[in-house]
Amino acid sequence: MSTAGEGTLQKMQRAHYSPPWANTSIIGIAGSSGSGKTSLSLAINSSLSLPWVVILSMDSFYKPLTPEQSQAAFRNEYDFDSPEAIDFDILVERLRDIKEGKKAEIPVYSFEKHSRLERTTTIYSPHVLILEGIFALHDERILDMLDMKIFCEADADVCLSRRLVRDVRERGRDIEGCIKQWFAFVKPNFHKYVEPQRNVADIIVPRGIENKVAISMVSDRIHKTLVLKSKMHQIELKRLGKVAEDL
Ligand code: C5P
Repeated sequence: MSTAGEGTLQKMQRAHYSPPWANTSIIGIAGSSGSGKTSLSLAINSSLSLPWVVILSMDSFYKPLTPEQSQAAFRNEYDFDSPEAIDFDILVERLRDIKEGKKAEIPVYSFEKHSRLERTTTIYSPHVLILEGIFALHDERILDMLDMKIFCEADADVCLSRRLVRDVRERGRDIEGCIKQWFAFVKPNFHKYVEPQRNVADIIVPRGIENKVAISMVSDRIHKTLVLKSKMHQIELKRLGKVAEDL
């Protein structure tokens, strides 16, 4: 029942709290390392105020390294900024499972070890999945599954300084190594592979979480998509019921 003065947004939100939710809406957020993709994902998540939103980082899908590759990684001489470094096949498989309402086991990645851990985490068909990563808008198969494509933009010097602080504080790195990796791989591959994803984005968000207008536009749009999907789902259920009656 609708209450007096209730806003459209609240009505939309109430319309489909009906798990399990097949056909999860997937939002892709790409952008440079240090551009604020994770913060933007968290801001969109809190502005959505839906119960079942999951943020999935593409970092979970870095390929396992050979012993030689691992040694190069510890010398900051391994290229983690080429799409070759990501296991897109597994990622696509997991996203398809999630879209179909199946649960998906997600690898847990350690930046300190440059490898996956033994354990995994499980995702159970959310309403919305936010896929964030430098290559979130790179693979055609993933683009086909996305309901919204976002490119997160920030100045290169902002990205570099954020990355330095984070990698030293949280990823067990030293400044010299970070700078070496930035100029050898991160910066050139940004221009080669990451930046071109702007061309397939629906929305380019400058200034990340400071950009309140963009965040509220994104969350309004997601609510509308969910309401539409919910209505189509109900029509389909009615149609199936009718078919069963006719048999
Ligand atoms: O979180 P963010 O988008 O910055 O993560 C992607 C970055 O992580 C890439 O630019 C890559 O250079 C870095 N990376 C790393 N060591 C790894 C895996 C990825 O420095 N083992």
